[in-house]
Amino acid sequence: MNTIVWQPTPVTKADRRRLNGHSSCVVWLTGLSGSGKSTIAGALELALHERGVHTYLLDGDNLRHGLNRDLGFSTRDRAENIRRTAEVAKLFVDAGLIAICGLISPYRREREAARSLFEPGEFIEVFVDCPVQVCKARDPKGLYRRALAGEIQHFTGVDDPYEPPLHPDVVVKTDRMSVKECVEAILHHLQAKGCLGARAEAPGDRAAAER
Ligand code: ADX
Repeated sequence: MNTIVWQPTPVTKADRRRLNGHSSCVVWLTGLSGSGKSTIAGALELALHERGVHTYLLDGDNLRHGLNRDLGFSTRDRAENIRRTAEVAKLFVDAGLIAICGLISPYRREREAARSLFEPGEFIEVFVDCPVQVCKARDPKGLYRRALAGEIQHFTGVDDPYEPPLHPDVVVKTDRMSVKECVEAILHHLQAKGCLGARAEAPGDRAAAER
């Protein structure tokens, strides 16, 4: 029997959004290791910050240094990694921020479970699409080399699967698009969905409007 009762708070998500002057949502970047999730997440956060949008970046590698430090890369641990991160992102969305999550999140089921925590339209799935051969060639952390040498087991794209999203909200192809183009595609989607509000002018727009 459930003995925990949800406590309503006097200040709500709607109140916080109103105070911020923009809506809140989670931008969930999924893709292979080396596909460019962290780079795009960082550039997206900077672009939003410069527009006066309140953000927080949740990076899979960084979370594994703290909140998720007890988790490895088994199917079960990855599921728990996604679940915890999605729950934290949900708190940030409740706090009125745009949460940007960059995790491989290789399995569709777990990504759908993450989506199910949010209200319709709040979970924006961005497929950071890059062929595995390109990711292997980039190998920014030397992990593909180690996985191919058999030093790391269950490495996504080597001996563990990656399930591409079937219906992502945005697709960015990092082998063909610049970081700027990827960020613009995501910003365009956020703007079109009404997430950015009136405060989210590009820097320079305000100066232009005042002239
Ligand atoms: S997820 O699969 O659970 O979503 P997450 O994004 O948190 O993964 O962490 C992936 C990062 O951990 C990679 O960018 C890579 O640096 C590192 N890593 C270490 N071992 C593995 C592995 N077996 N598979 C994938 N990434 C790994």
